[in-house]
Amino acid sequence: MQDENQRYERERTFHNWVYSEKARASVGKFYSIADICERYYRECILARSGHDVLEIGCGRWGTMAPFLDRDRCFTAIDISDVAVQESAEVARANGLVGTYLRMNAEATTFPDNSFDLICGSSILHHLNLDKACAEIRRILRPDGCAVFIEPLGHNPLINVFRKLTPQIRTVDEHPLLMKDMRDMRTHFGQIDVHYFCLLSLAAVPFRNWRVFPAMKNTLERFDSSLFRMLPGSGRYAWMMVMTMSRPKGQGQ
Ligand SMILES: C[S@@+](CC[C@H](N)C(=O)[O-])C[C@H]1O[C@@H](n2cnc3c(N)ncnc32)[C@H](O)[C@@H]1O
Repeated sequence: MQDENQRYERERTFHNWVYSEKARASVGKFYSIADICERYYRECILARSGHDVLEIGCGRWGTMAPFLDRDRCFTAIDISDVAVQESAEVARANGLVGTYLRMNAEATTFPDNSFDLICGSSILHHLNLDKACAEIRRILRPDGCAVFIEPLGHNPLINVFRKLTPQIRTVDEHPLLMKDMRDMRTHFGQIDVHYFCLLSLAAVPFRNWRVFPAMKNTLERFDSSLFRMLPGSGRYAWMMVMTMSRPKGQGQ
């Protein structure tokens, strides 16, 4: 338990620093190609009906609040007090509804079956997956679903970049592996995965050039053909959007 508390404290301290120092600028260039998966993630969420929506690890930039209808009940949690405070301020300033709470996603205080939809962007890979999935399963309604956008950890070139830039990540984060997804199936009856950003990574150095949008679109089309024709290639993608449903009951 002491190890776990130290991990939570490392995550909280690191992200408080990130949100204060605007450190995302260091990896910002890669997000020039990430809009395709962010759009898909939002579409998956908006396509689901359901009143009670929870976003975990909302950070300061990741909140779904601006995209949701006002008649939904939106709650967002994060372990970083800076993230929660600033997200709440931004929401208030923009007239958005929502409740922002500092809370650990691996051990929330929500009652069982609280939410129709649980979502998160780049959060699961900061958590103990088994604990986080057990908690999501507990607080998700039986007909609910969870949608996450997460980085993958199989591409050797991306892993070299990660090794060379330890200052922009926590020691505990672990981009997801195929094994992780197999393990998650012990918690959910159905997991659908869509992969994004493999060949399109080659467009990143040209992000300030006029040819960038056309180049990115072409490479994205190649990516989707590749993932369709060679399903095993998906593991080398940078990002994926996963939809988890049919939470398994205790003892199943
Ligand atoms: C990579 S950031 C992603 C933030 C935001 N979702 C986005 O896409 O910009 C990961 C977030 O997870 C939060 N986090 C890490 N461990 C957590 C935990 N155990 N419970 C809740 N939030 C956690 C961090 O504070 C951080 O805000």
